[in-house]
Amino acid sequence: MNKKSSVARQAPAPKRVGFTSGFGVLAATLGSAVGLGNIWKFPYLTGANGGAGFLLVYLLATLLVGLPVMIVEIALGREARANPISALQALAPRRQPWWLIGAAGMLAAFLILSFYSEVVAWVFAYVLKAMRGSILSSDPHVTEAAFSALIGDPLQSLLWQWGVLVFIGSILLMGVTRGIEALSKKLMPLLFLLLLLLCAVSLSLDRVVDGLAFLFKPDFSKMSAAVVLTAVGLAFFKLSVGMGTMLTYGSYFRDDQNIPVTTFCVMSADLCVSMLAGIAIFPAVFTFGFAPAAGPALVFITIPAVFSRIPMGQWLMVVFFVLAAVAATGAMLSMMEVPVVILHERFGLSRTSAILLTIVLLVFSGAACALSNSTLASFKLFGLNLFDLFDFVSSNIILPAGGIFIAVFVGWVWGRDKFRLALSNHGQLHNEKLVDVVFFLLRYVSPLLILIVMLKGLNLF
Ligand code: PFF
Repeated sequence: MNKKSSVARQAPAPKRVGFTSGFGVLAATLGSAVGLGNIWKFPYLTGANGGAGFLLVYLLATLLVGLPVMIVEIALGREARANPISALQALAPRRQPWWLIGAAGMLAAFLILSFYSEVVAWVFAYVLKAMRGSILSSDPHVTEAAFSALIGDPLQSLLWQWGVLVFIGSILLMGVTRGIEALSKKLMPLLFLLLLLLCAVSLSLDRVVDGLAFLFKPDFSKMSAAVVLTAVGLAFFKLSVGMGTMLTYGSYFRDDQNIPVTTFCVMSADLCVSMLAGIAIFPAVFTFGFAPAAGPALVFITIPAVFSRIPMGQWLMVVFFVLAAVAATGAMLSMMEVPVVILHERFGLSRTSAILLTIVLLVFSGAACALSNSTLASFKLFGLNLFDLFDFVSSNIILPAGGIFIAVFVGWVWGRDKFRLALSNHGQLHNEKLVDVVFFLLRYVSPLLILIVMLKGLNLF
């Protein structure tokens, strides 16, 4: 504690709580990374973009840009021990507006939460439907009709979304240590257990080889600039970076936590969960003759039809949606924590009022997405409904842009010495070589790579 930098001492840090154990730090951070991104986004994007070719680009994006930005966000958070806006204000030279990255992060949090909470709403609704057995049908037309009925019903869409917001809000009310950390420590092992169970079932199916080949055999024919941008966007989304979430969690990290090692473990485990989700889904999809590129509905239309053909399918389907709900909970907690801690620390609201205000704001912005398949279905901007627009803008523009600015800030403003000091736990660890590699990536590689991919992917040059 006595080794904190002078910068940290000047930071406007009221007495803060944080994560208490090494495992708690790991579980909470992994809880943020693992989410519907693994179970809902990753399989359908891999399916739509050519399987293993996409996977390879995604892996490169994760290592070259996602991981360095994650390391940096956590380091900045821990140095400043403050929310994203105050942290960047405290760490940047006076009068330079780097705090805007934190403000943009808050905007991104609202955009992502608006559509994410709606997908979580469908997941929660499906847990109930799976238990009742009402969505179990081997006919995809029937499962599609059931899904359309849910998302096309404005009242159901809104009510489930509000339920999710209140549920996550009540965990946040329990606080960082007793809410986020304690729950993550229980949920993460449960998640792995459920996932392994589903993989075991899937690997016993007939067309397991086709499913695995789809996931692991590269096909570059679908590769394009837009696909590479999607992979980069997914890498950011998966690792929860570019919008201050990891910076916020970094501010709860223990002083003695080894940041590079922790982030590497989180990245690997997150990748592992994505692959396992792919292994659980694709062999089953192939065995029963479904199209792997079924879009976002893969999970909600194809999965129920697939499970209906497996012995004990109904209960395995319950397991699947509980797994998705568990994954989504940790991710939502981390996302909502960003506006909550900003409203609490920057705007002086009590933590309870900050949580309530965040929920109220999300009821409004979330409704735009919840109703985008019903009441607002004909409302489109740039050819996208509000749900898809929020997803596209946040994943493909705000998160990567946030990544560029954070990398530039650390690489060119904060500098190598402070970065080294932060990552060595103020001289306790001897990881200079590793830190130098990460610093090089941040200074030269990540920002340029993200910028090129963004401009090309958006067709701007
Ligand atoms: N990483 C989460 C997932 O894969 O579902 C989503 C996410 C959480 C994105 C937190 C961004 C964030 F700040």
